[in-house]
Amino acid sequence: EKKKITKICCIGAGYVGGPTMAVIAQKCPHIQVTVVDINQARIDAWNDENLENLPVYEPDLDQVVAEARGRNLFFSTEVDTVIKEAEMVFISVNTPTKTYGEGKGQAADLKWIELCARQIAAASDSDKIVVEKSTLPVRTAEAVKDILRNTGGGVKFQILSNPEFLAEGTAVEDLQQADRVLIGGENSPEGKEAIQALVDIYAHWIPREKILTTNVWSSELSKLTANAVLAQRVSSINSLSELCEATEADIDEVSRAIGADSRIGKKFLKASVGFGGSCFQKDILNLVYISRSYGLTEVADYWEQVIKMNDHQKGRFAKKIIKSLYNTVSGKKIAFLGWAFKKDTNDTRESAAIYVADHLLNEKAIISVYDPKVKEKQIQFDLNCLQTRSEEENRSLVNVEVDPYEVCKDSHAVAILTEWDEFKTYDWQKIYDSMLKPAQVFDGRNILDHEALRKIGFRVYAIGKS
Ligand code: UDX
Ligand code: UDX
Ligand code: ADP
Repeated sequence: EKKKITKICCIGAGYVGGPTMAVIAQKCPHIQVTVVDINQARIDAWNDENLENLPVYEPDLDQVVAEARGRNLFFSTEVDTVIKEAEMVFISVNTPTKTYGEGKGQAADLKWIELCARQIAAASDSDKIVVEKSTLPVRTAEAVKDILRNTGGGVKFQILSNPEFLAEGTAVEDLQQADRVLIGGENSPEGKEAIQALVDIYAHWIPREKILTTNVWSSELSKLTANAVLAQRVSSINSLSELCEATEADIDEVSRAIGADSRIGKKFLKASVGFGGSCFQKDILNLVYISRSYGLTEVADYWEQVIKMNDHQKGRFAKKIIKSLYNTVSGKKIAFLGWAFKKDTNDTRESAAIYVADHLLNEKAIISVYDPKVKEKQIQFDLNCLQTRSEEENRSLVNVEVDPYEVCKDSHAVAILTEWDEFKTYDWQKIYDSMLKPAQVFDGRNILDHEALRKIGFRVYAIGKS
């Protein structure tokens, strides 16, 4: 008979698991959705009365949580109990790049996924559909399946791949109005039944023709390559930005001209200080690693270049600041507006700001940071993770303020690292008056009115403009 899903468990209450489950719960009031995590503080934050304390900041997420939480959306640390009761279990744990051993710096660390699989196997006493939500390298499902089927003691598992395509900052909108939903599963009667059960859930709000079903490997690989192709567009435009700076062309004009071709399209052609985020770099490194492991050297080299160009773009921006400040930033205050990897998120993973800061700190600059959503603790944590210098040094060289005008005051330069809308509305005359002269602005996101700034007296550097 047809499987009817009444209870869903999601393992991992992070940037993917939290918003995704909140929207599923909102759209399917008859399904009980429980998100579990081993991190008690995170679960407490998801359960906080005050919606401003949710651990993930996303526009409109608070409203979705307010609507569903306590009705059919729950957050808990009772991992085993919740797994046991669910008919469908999503795996939404983090899969960072390995920091040790074979594949260090490239392959995905599957430790957490394996732990998850073993935990599901141990906790289950009835058949379950297990859905991979995390970005996983191709053939991970195979490993998960192997563990589940060999340790599950008679319980039957179907494994689906259902990659997440939401972008941070627009997560709720991306989930509610997805371009497509991708579901990969086995081509057996049981596999098809499992696929159908998940299709039925999404069909509550996603038009059926936008729900694509494939085999498991295609689905897993599509997630990696979607991100690789998006990142490639950014690296392509960023590579051209350097050429524009050396010539008389303007990258925003070039981008508009290229994007007007319907075969190319205008999205994702914004030059920047470099892409960040938890996915792009990790997924490409993974793609490169997989290609190499199959002996496909040219394929691996081709995609690796996207990362190299991104590293170059971040380094180039830092060098530009140093050069413009007469080749020495030692002891000079430099203001950072923005730390998140993009606007409308509090996520800082792989943010260009971290690497630009590190570069400048190596030159003994003093950095003052303002970001509307990122807290001081996170900024220090991000720098400490690089292990470039002691925590004490990072604390003494980097200070974080809650007032952007304080951050800019007495600085030699202001650098825009994130494209937060509020930066455009600041009183730039006031900022100019409070800075050391010549006052310089380095717009790493090309969001400010450069002509207006020059009129005030600023020296302005922008990406891809001569
Ligand atoms: C990405 C994918 O878009 C999403 O589909 C996937 O599920 C997860 O990875 P995310 O990393 O959250 O999402 O944000 P995204 O909007 O893709 O931006 C990634 C980085 O690229 C940001 O640092 C952003 O500033 C940068 N970027 C993006 C540019 O520099 N220029 C652009 O034109 C677009
Ligand atoms: C191209 C540009 O499209 C056009 O705008 C420009 O003015 C001249 O160069 P053209 O070379 O005539 O036009 O044909 P195009 O359709 O772009 O195809 C170029 C090559 O790419 C062909 O060999 C085509 O078979 C190949 N191609 C195109 C693919 O292999 N896959 C595709 O998805 C698209
Ligand atoms: P993502 O961006 O993929 O959502 P996050 O790091 O934001 O990544 O979230 C992943 C979450 O998964 C973290 O909160 C982490 O505590 C949780 N997690 C990792 N392993 C397990 C596990 N075995 N059981 C429960 N939760 C886990």
